[in-house]
Amino acid sequence: MGMTQTVSCSPFHVFNVPLGARAYHVVTGDAVLSRVIEHLPDDLRTTLGSRQIFIVTDQTVGALYASALRTSFAGYCRNAAVHSIADGEASKSGATYQLLCDELLAAGIDRQSVIIALGGGVVGDLAGFVAATILRGVNFIQVPTTLLSQVDSSVGGKTGINTSVGKNLIGAFYQPRLVVCDTAVLTTLPPREFAAGMAEIVKAAMLADGDFLGWLENNCAAIGFRDPAALSAMINRAVGIKAQIVAADEREETGLRALLNLGHTFGHAYEAAAGYDGRLLHGEGVAIGLVMAARLSAMMGLISVSDVERVRSLLVALHLPVSPGDVQGVVWPRDDDLIERMRKDKKTSAGQLNFVVLEKIGRAVLRNGIEEQMVRAVLAAS
Ligand code: NAD
Ligand code: GLY
Repeated sequence: MGMTQTVSCSPFHVFNVPLGARAYHVVTGDAVLSRVIEHLPDDLRTTLGSRQIFIVTDQTVGALYASALRTSFAGYCRNAAVHSIADGEASKSGATYQLLCDELLAAGIDRQSVIIALGGGVVGDLAGFVAATILRGVNFIQVPTTLLSQVDSSVGGKTGINTSVGKNLIGAFYQPRLVVCDTAVLTTLPPREFAAGMAEIVKAAMLADGDFLGWLENNCAAIGFRDPAALSAMINRAVGIKAQIVAADEREETGLRALLNLGHTFGHAYEAAAGYDGRLLHGEGVAIGLVMAARLSAMMGLISVSDVERVRSLLVALHLPVSPGDVQGVVWPRDDDLIERMRKDKKTSAGQLNFVVLEKIGRAVLRNGIEEQMVRAVLAAS
């Protein structure tokens, strides 16, 4: 399994995301949460004394880690404050966005301030959108604390909120100035959330690195007991894939970054249908969507049925749902409704059904205008 980081400097790795004036580092390592200051870009580090830090977190993560992060800034900045939102996908809403903006404005945020998102993808996406828009943009740092946010959502600058029509339909591309992924915080992550993060890692392997998929298959046991060496290798490979794709297609214009949505058009439809209330986590929706995307690829004659089974078995071994029937307590809407949701996904154009499919394990491609009958067949087989 190849590594793509540009600097290796034990006990942490530094990846560069080369985006010109918006370039930044992603630091991964054990116990790096309290060392954010060391990794700040020079312009922020040398002027920290005059800046206010606003740590945005959720209630669970805040109780566990906000104090350590805040304390690490004590004496180095003008002021460091913690602002907490409720846990869960429902917080990625217009209402929470408005409340958080009002709270930060009342607390005196100014254009020199730095917002730090401390939490999973919900906190990162919401706080990033606040950072992108409040006072027309303030400095933003990600300290992701879920596996999913470390390997995917914190890197690449997609920020936003959900609407009743669908996920992430309001947002902005807004790159962080720094991402710090502390693998030590994963020890407190609940098993279901850990598994959800694995779905995005399997996705990265499926679309970009067949050898990595083989590595995941061979290391399921070590991953299961969160062996630090296995986690570190896996996180670094997934961050490397994400950073490389983002660097090549920052704003999803060439079709390359769109490949990161493998499984997501299916997954988002189920996630929205489940109502964002915790019965189907984002990563779980992605896992179901990955099997569906593999099945669609097989129906299109691109990959074999045994490739589909390979993906399905890996996700099962990683304790993920692989079909809508695996999700407890949800009565799914009719296929017509799910397909309607898929047509409203951001990736649609002129109401067409567009999907990322696999040409082989480790190589994905975007296909537009997929026939509805084929999508119906995938849903029926799932
Ligand atoms: P999440 O942010 O809801 O976090 C999951 C739960 O884990 C929360 O209850 C949180 O409090 C808890 N938690 C977080 N870190 C913890 C820790 N270290 N110890 C104990 N508990 C911890 O979920 P998520 O899976 O991180 O993020 C999902 C969101 O990410 C979705 O909204 C999805 O759309 C978004 N996403 C965005 C991108 C992007 O590119 N911006 C990519 C993928 C996913
Ligand atoms: N998670 C999809 C992207 O970052 O583009």
